[in-house]
Amino acid sequence: MTDHTYTVDDIGRLVDGETYRHGNPFPLWRWMRENEPVVRHEPGVFPAFWSLTRHDEVKQVLRDAETFSSSSGILLRPLAHGEDPGSDRTLALSDAPRHQALRGAAAGWFAPRNLRRLGDFLDSAAYAAVRSAVEATRVDFVGDLAAKVPIEVVCSFLGIPDEDRPSVVEWSTEAFCAGTAEERSIAHLEILDYFGDLVERRRAAPGDDLVSVLATLTYQGALLPLDDVVLNCDNLLVGGTENVRLAMSGGMLALLRRPDQLALLRADFDQVVNTAIDEILRWTSSATHIMRRATRDVELGGRRVRRGELVVCWLSSANRDPAHFTDADVFDVRRSPNRHLALGAGPHYCVGTQLAKLEIRAVLRELLAQVGDIRLDGEPEYLDSIVVNGLRRLPLRLTPAGGDGSRPRSDLTAARG
Ligand code: HEM
Repeated sequence: MTDHTYTVDDIGRLVDGETYRHGNPFPLWRWMRENEPVVRHEPGVFPAFWSLTRHDEVKQVLRDAETFSSSSGILLRPLAHGEDPGSDRTLALSDAPRHQALRGAAAGWFAPRNLRRLGDFLDSAAYAAVRSAVEATRVDFVGDLAAKVPIEVVCSFLGIPDEDRPSVVEWSTEAFCAGTAEERSIAHLEILDYFGDLVERRRAAPGDDLVSVLATLTYQGALLPLDDVVLNCDNLLVGGTENVRLAMSGGMLALLRRPDQLALLRADFDQVVNTAIDEILRWTSSATHIMRRATRDVELGGRRVRRGELVVCWLSSANRDPAHFTDADVFDVRRSPNRHLALGAGPHYCVGTQLAKLEIRAVLRELLAQVGDIRLDGEPEYLDSIVVNGLRRLPLRLTPAGGDGSRPRSDLTAARG
């Protein structure tokens, strides 16, 4: 479908999962940026909300946490689902001053010392995951590789004891990557139950992990309620796994579709990898949208948004805005500058940014070291979600690189930079 066939009646397709599974939302987003950059959706399955598709207005909203509140939810939910259970309780769904307290605790934990420790663990996890994928030869890159590394890393920073990890990995895989809606929700309840138990154990005997930090955090003179800590742990698990998995697998597909870009990365990994990672984040924009609620009447792109109204920032669209990106629809591993909004902006900017980048780097590095030839081995399948955007399945055939694919640890550590 070409751009000129769109009308304002088509904007409803943005909240239809089928648009993301079978279709291509980018032409519609382009039309909206050019014709209706700030547009109101009437209530239906979802409450009424405004759609923002340009980089300028999206950035304006994300940076101004006083005018645009996160506390009632940051994702569009069907009206029938009611209020988000994390409202006013999790880091992402809090406003100041609660947000600062939770943010200080989480961001403090992701300080360089802990990141370095995680980095060593990550190198081994990436090495092993790529190694077993290469041995298998034919793999689903999403499930067999891109899902594995982030969940190992999350288990590590949440301090999940070794003996519990297989269960947590299994529930997470079921909750986020596979199964029917019912199986997914049962697995998710198992995770919440598990965290309830773990938080109590950490309150009794804190360790040096992030669960212990949250379990012992006091806010306004009291420990956080157990349920609040559990919801925060759950958010870290989801945030730390889903987006990284989608960025890695979408990045892999982008590189396969542009062999010249893959060759650039292979030829000069250390020079190109940083810009390549940001381009993968921009290109995949796995967090499709982020929502806010206006706390006062405010003007956005020439339209009047009233206090209490919802505004939805389509990050994937903002990241293809030609006003901010030259050749925005071209995947360019050397793109610079690259002021994408894939990780948000302002006070809620992704707290896992450095970790996410380290993970993508480690997996790319291992792939290029251990795999000689990477080919598509079937049609990629896409998710049908309006929340996270990307691949459900990416069948690949991997041919090992010459040699045994192993390198000294010092090389791996130096490469992290
Ligand atoms: C490619 C990977 C990732 C992407 C695309 C991504 C995306 C985002 C975005 C767009 C936000 C902003 C939300 C908002 O403004 O309301 C955010 C916040 C957040 N992310 Fe990530 N994320 C990624 C990786 C991670 C990882 C690895 C972790 C785990 C440590 C994580 C944990 C969080 C948390 C806890 C927040 C809330 C921060 C706050 O509200 O202050 N994310 N992320």
